[in-house]
Amino acid sequence: MEIREIIISLFYLIASFLFIFGIKRLSSPATARMGNIYSAIGMLIAVVATLLNKNIVSFEYILLGIVVGSAIGAYMALKVAMTDMPQMVGLLNGFGGGASAFVALSEFYQKIGPDVAPDIKAAVAISISLLIGSVTFTGSLIAFGKLQGIVTGKVVKFPLQNQLNILLILALITLIVLAVIYPQEQIYYLTIIGISLLVGVLLVLPIGGADMPVAISLLNSYSGMAAAATGFVIDNNMLIIAGSLVGASGIILTNIMCKAMNRSLMNVLLGGWDNTASSSAVSGGKDVVIKSVDSEEAASIFDAASSVIVVPGYGMAVAQAQHAVKELMDVLEKRGISVKFAVHPVAGRMPGHMNILLAESNVPYDKLYALEDINDDFKTTDVSLVIGANDVVNPAARSNPESPIYGMPILNVDYSRTVIVVKRSMAAGYAGIDNDLFGLDNTFMYFGDAKDAITKLNNELKNM
Ligand code: TAP
Repeated sequence: MEIREIIISLFYLIASFLFIFGIKRLSSPATARMGNIYSAIGMLIAVVATLLNKNIVSFEYILLGIVVGSAIGAYMALKVAMTDMPQMVGLLNGFGGGASAFVALSEFYQKIGPDVAPDIKAAVAISISLLIGSVTFTGSLIAFGKLQGIVTGKVVKFPLQNQLNILLILALITLIVLAVIYPQEQIYYLTIIGISLLVGVLLVLPIGGADMPVAISLLNSYSGMAAAATGFVIDNNMLIIAGSLVGASGIILTNIMCKAMNRSLMNVLLGGWDNTASSSAVSGGKDVVIKSVDSEEAASIFDAASSVIVVPGYGMAVAQAQHAVKELMDVLEKRGISVKFAVHPVAGRMPGHMNILLAESNVPYDKLYALEDINDDFKTTDVSLVIGANDVVNPAARSNPESPIYGMPILNVDYSRTVIVVKRSMAAGYAGIDNDLFGLDNTFMYFGDAKDAITKLNNELKNM
């Protein structure tokens, strides 16, 4: 091994350590920022080490790619709204998968193209990389389209769907076997690409909009696996390690989300949760009496309280109400009221959505409680303040076997003495179903945009 290769391997080793260390630190909000920095330094080292590779033929193209890619990346990072982050992640996964497939295809023409000696090991790696990369590419584009409203967010089902999928998967297995037996025949590789692109579309299309974050996390895992497979194609240990880390963490996250919704991955993938479910079937068609309060009445309820649990949801993100919510915490604490935050694992539209927003507004981490750590506290709490959350506090998940979200663990806000729900209307949440909470005797609706409503509440409390 020449000295240059030893240096590259050493750099890759350091980068791998930094990736693993970085991921470890992402497990707590207090250390997550450092975790990101460690991983970014690891990536920089990996990129620099790769640039030392003697097989690089054109630094000009690489430089052009860095400039154009960085400009687009910086523009997107600055412009994209926090609420649109899931579809941006989806799009980036797709690009990752597409890039892996392109690298694998170019390696085909270098290593086992029509005019080169056959290489079985390369044929296996290239076929698998093409398959996963292409599925990830189109699957992610459909996921992006669903979240962006370009493709229908509904569960799409058609006759013989599962049979068609099985047929296509069998065709892919056959093509991979043929590609390995006849490694120089490019038609097999090109057909693998074509069918895989179609499979990507067909696999994500049936998944309902409400399940898209799970699909995106799964596609994220696929993009990692595609990168790892490409690592085998080009004999790059760094790509194998980084790809495996992404593949494994994506699958773990997918599993956490499924558990938080009490769903199996198969149920998600087969479009089990149809968000077109009839609302009246869920509420049982009963007449529900809704009581609403204004800012003054809401303030007087807080005035009489000594303990408050705030439950943030997607609406807090939409309204960008996190700073007003932090101010409310300060106002209440000044009055000697204890304030805690209950964060549901799937509140919002992406993992950690609420944690990020509350951290941004400087709510101390030790005030944020996970579902299992706070659910017993609601029954001894005076006021639960639900801000733009809906599905994650729907008691139907606990008590109504007819409900599409039955079995999903929820925050038991209805057990507290009084519940105040801040939202703009009686509209449903992401699952598209009625919420029995709104009609309960101890619930008061405080209608309005979350930021406006909480700001008005703060002013009332300050003037009391
Ligand atoms: P949702 O159930 O989606 O409800 C959000 C509520 O916010 C809506 O009912 C909406 O009512 C209200 N809202 C919207 N804009 C608002 C504004 N400007 N001011 C005040 N309220 C506003 O949210 P959730 O309780 O956070 O639940 C998350 C959902 O996403 C769950 O169904 C979950 O399963 C799904 N999901 C999430 C994830 C992750 S990782 N987070 C993953 C998979 C699935 P109005 O229109 O009446 O205001």
